[in-house]
Amino acid sequence: MEKILRDGAFTGETHIVTGAAQGIGNCIATTLAAHGAQLVLVDLDEGRLAEARDAMAPHATVKPIIAKANVADEDDVKAVVASTLEATGAISGLVNVAGITRDSRITKKSFDDFKAVLAVHVHGTFLLTREVAVQHWHPLFKANGNQPLTDGVNRFIVNFSSVSARAGNVGQVDYTAAKGAIESVTKTTAREFAGYGVRVNAIAPGPVDTPMLAGVDENVRNAMGRATVLGRIAQPSEMASVVAAIADPKLFGYCTGQVFHINAGMYLA
Ligand SMILES: NC(=O)c1ccc[n+]([C@@H]2O[C@H](COP(=O)([O-])OP(=O)(O)OC[C@H]3O[C@@H](n4cnc5c(N)ncnc54)[C@H](O)[C@@H]3O)[C@@H](O)[C@H]2O)c1
Repeated sequence: MEKILRDGAFTGETHIVTGAAQGIGNCIATTLAAHGAQLVLVDLDEGRLAEARDAMAPHATVKPIIAKANVADEDDVKAVVASTLEATGAISGLVNVAGITRDSRITKKSFDDFKAVLAVHVHGTFLLTREVAVQHWHPLFKANGNQPLTDGVNRFIVNFSSVSARAGNVGQVDYTAAKGAIESVTKTTAREFAGYGVRVNAIAPGPVDTPMLAGVDENVRNAMGRATVLGRIAQPSEMASVVAAIADPKLFGYCTGQVFHINAGMYLA
C-alpha cells in the first residue's frame, strides 16, 4: 500500500485498533502496520479477524495479532490489554473505532437499542482507555516517581466521534449521544493522561463508504454526499491517513484534546 508518512514511522511501537475486522478500523490498522507498528486487531468475530490479519499481512512489517473481544465487556477488555502487554511488553497507541448503529426515531427507539449503542461507543472507549492506563501507562508514571513521563516514547489515543455529534441526525439519538460523549471523554482523558506523555484526540468523520453505510438506502447515501461541500462520501483511507498523521508525534506532537472534523465541509465548525 502507498505510504503516507516516512518509512518506519511507527517501528517498535504496538498499536491496538478496535473494530479492526472491517471498514475504517481495518483501513487504519493496515496503514499503521504499513508504517512499522505491531498491530493488535480487536473485534467481535474471530473468523473475520483472521481474514483481516491475513489480508493485512503483506502490507505489514510485523504480523498483526488478533484479539476477539467485545469492547463493551469489562473482562474481555482487561484480557485484551493484558495479553497485548504479555506479547509485546508495551503499548504506544490505542485507536477506539468499534461502533454500531440501531437507527430509529425516538418514539420507536427501544431502551435496549439505546443502551447497546451507548455501550459499544462510550463504555468501549472508556474501558480500553482505562485498562491501557491502569495496566501500563500509570505504572510507568508511578515508576517515574509520579513525575510526568518525558522519555520521548510515542503514546497516543485516537477516538471516533461523528459529524452527527455536532449536527444531530434523525433516528440517531443514541448514536449522537454516544459520539457527543466521546468528544467529552477525549478532552478529559487528554487532561488526565498528559502526565503519561499521551496525546488524546478524536476525529469526527462525515459519511464514509464502509459496511456501516452499506445498509443505508442509496438515495440517502447520495444525499449525504451532496450535503458535503466537496460533494461526495469519503473512502476509509481518507480517515486512516488522518489517524496516521495524528499518531505521528513528528507531525502532531503539540496537539491533544482536539476533535478533528473530517467531513468535507458537511459541518463547518
Ligand atoms: N461509516 C461512516 O459513515 C461513519 C461516519 C462517522 C463515524 N463513523 C464511525 O467510525 C467508526 C467505524 O465505522 P465503520 O463505518 O468502519 O463501521 P463498520 O460497521 O464497517 O465496522 C465497525 C466494526 O466494529 C466492530 N464492532 C462492533 N461492535 C463491537 C464490539 N462491541 N466489540 C468489538 N468490535 C465491535 C464490528 O464488528 C465491525 O467490524 C465507528 O465508530 C463509526 O461510528 C462512521
